[in-house]
Amino acid sequence: MKGPKGVFVCQECGYESAKWMGKCPACASWNRFAEEVRHEAAPARMSGRRSGSGRGLASAAVPIPVGQVISGDEERLITGIGEFDRVLGGGIVAGSVALIGGDPGIGKSTILLQVSASVARRIGPVLYVTGEESARQVGLRAARLDAECERLLVLPETDVVSIIEQIYAVRPALVVVDSIQTMDYAGLESSPGSVGQVRECTALLMRVAKEQGVPIFLVGHVTKSGAIAGPKVLEHIVDTVLYFEGESAHAHRIIRAVKNRYGSTNEVGIFAMTDSGLEQVENPSEMLLSERPGGAAGSVVVASLEGTRPLLVEVQSLVARSVTGTPRRTTTGVDYNRTAIIIAVLERRAGFAIGMEDIYVNVAGGVALNEPAVDLGIAAAVVSSFRGVPAAGGTVVFGEVGLAGELRAVNHADVRVAEAQRLGFGRCVVPGHNLKNMTRRPKGVEVVGAASVREALDAVFTGVRS
Ligand SMILES: Nc1ncnc2c1ncn2[C@@H]1O[C@H](COP(=O)(O)OP(=O)(O)O)[C@@H](O)[C@H]1O
Ligand SMILES: [Mg+2]
Repeated sequence: MKGPKGVFVCQECGYESAKWMGKCPACASWNRFAEEVRHEAAPARMSGRRSGSGRGLASAAVPIPVGQVISGDEERLITGIGEFDRVLGGGIVAGSVALIGGDPGIGKSTILLQVSASVARRIGPVLYVTGEESARQVGLRAARLDAECERLLVLPETDVVSIIEQIYAVRPALVVVDSIQTMDYAGLESSPGSVGQVRECTALLMRVAKEQGVPIFLVGHVTKSGAIAGPKVLEHIVDTVLYFEGESAHAHRIIRAVKNRYGSTNEVGIFAMTDSGLEQVENPSEMLLSERPGGAAGSVVVASLEGTRPLLVEVQSLVARSVTGTPRRTTTGVDYNRTAIIIAVLERRAGFAIGMEDIYVNVAGGVALNEPAVDLGIAAAVVSSFRGVPAAGGTVVFGEVGLAGELRAVNHADVRVAEAQRLGFGRCVVPGHNLKNMTRRPKGVEVVGAASVREALDAVFTGVRS
């Protein structure tokens, strides 16, 4: 009889090898191999119909002409928290498994408890499995968030087989597992959080989700490098991957879908962290601009896009003569290399002698902008600070800056201009090509098209005395 078979698994990327290795051939990390022993014992409830690889011939699928597969609309469970439903593409799909990742303390447990309470009140029982915190801690949070509900059931458990038994017993409308890194499958000898455990537990839960048609949310921790801890393969197994972003020093939080089998990955949900939990932000531009200093040099409003939603954001810059001889450049919220290019373009193509200046660029409110349309915002903020001249009042800018100093068209110009109008801005400086293609001009907004950064900057500062 064969004993249990051990396999060495890279704890970074999940690469498997029959023998221990110092360096992983797949991801090149060192000393990350650990032995994982697998016992051949599937959990009792699962060993029947479709256990592991022993899928019987009886359940073999038959090919169907694609035209006859009428998927219809998937059955979706509306959580009642609009911004959350929005990221998921209009609610949670029955039987889907979603992974929600983010830094510790960002609000993963908070939002999922709020979602759980909302689903419990609207639809049916929700099983909130907590492996990280005690039931009491979850209870205290529920009291603070006003998330108490008879049908919201807390299960402090880490043994995945017991959890599956409870899912069969309770038949909940939604299951939350907080977190997948604390889950333990007794059939594996490795400790919770290891690649083997995380993968096996996810696979088992995934099977229950499909069999029962119950959606499951898994909380996943993010490592320092930004990946969800455990195997990258986890992201491939699950149906949906959401990332929770934001800075703990700022109130706003963004939930972004980075993978979604049932919807677009363009949508984001925007929330603000408050004492009573995460509140939906229906008017993010207004929130982000609320602290903007009026008429200050170095501050420019740029029309950016989060998913399909326009977002007006303040880009700030401070330009100061360098005292060290090697000028410093620091950016927060915008790409460092992109900013370096824009600075070089301003120097070489637009004639601003800023090469020897210390330049700091910051996006107010802690949002991260990484689309080319913010280029013009960065350029205008830097020049505004350098010249000590504020941008003309009520001006919003957007446009991609090219290496030749040209201003290139960006997508969804109409949406951006409409947002500026909605928030009472009177003037937009945009790429000339965008202006040409604009189907309708919103009333009350002057749209100025510019072919180059130089021209755009002239427009940004017209009517302002230096
Ligand atoms: N008693 C409290 N009052 C107000 N806010 C709190 C309180 N406790 C926690 N928070 C907020 O909730 C956040 C923790 O959220 P949590 O959902 O536990 O994060 P995660 O599960 O992502 O680690 C904290 O960073 C803090 O902002
Ligand atoms: Mg938590």
